[in-house]
Amino acid sequence: MLKIVVCVSGGGTNLQAIIDGIENQSIKNVCIVGIISNNKNAYALERGRLYGINSVCVSPKDFDGRQNFNKAFLEKVMEMSPDLIVLAGFLVAIPKEMVEAYPNKIINIHPSLIPSFCGVGYYGLKVHEAVLNRGVKITGATVHFVDEGTDTGTIIIQKAVLVEPNDTAEILQKRVMEQAEWIILPKAINMIATGELDLS
Ligand code: GRF
Repeated sequence: MLKIVVCVSGGGTNLQAIIDGIENQSIKNVCIVGIISNNKNAYALERGRLYGINSVCVSPKDFDGRQNFNKAFLEKVMEMSPDLIVLAGFLVAIPKEMVEAYPNKIINIHPSLIPSFCGVGYYGLKVHEAVLNRGVKITGATVHFVDEGTDTGTIIIQKAVLVEPNDTAEILQKRVMEQAEWIILPKAINMIATGELDLS
């Protein structure tokens, strides 16, 4: 059984896709041992609690300095003792110590086709606004391993999504979630859980 911790900051639709995948067995041999959010008001925490999953907030706002937050965040993750850490709409930079403690065991979903529209400052709606401003015709989402850079880790899986003429950033964001993110993140987790993708 692959034990995962899911880190979230917002509504948690990607988390819900993972929970649903475990429930309907499209994700095999996986158990969510904990959910961590930096935002105590994140609806994602509520989603976890509805399924009886240990769901907690560890927020930088509650600590004196980033180092203290990083230490507490890493301690909480280690306490949950995961085999894999999944960043599902998590908007906090992952501490270097956590990347070192979990080499090739942290994955992230990013709402663009990396290396386009990624890196520092590219998150949430900002990604889709940049896609529309540049006028590209195809976008999508990417699941990748997390290294010490921002969106620079090895790519695991990508899925393309067409940009439609009357798209707004909000409309495009929803379509990228529905047609790409909620499909490729559960798929990547299942690939790891079934050994199709080796973590070592
Ligand atoms: C998703 O688009 C994800 O790719 C991005 O933040 C959004 C989070 O959505 N990093 P949700 O909280 O999973 O609904």
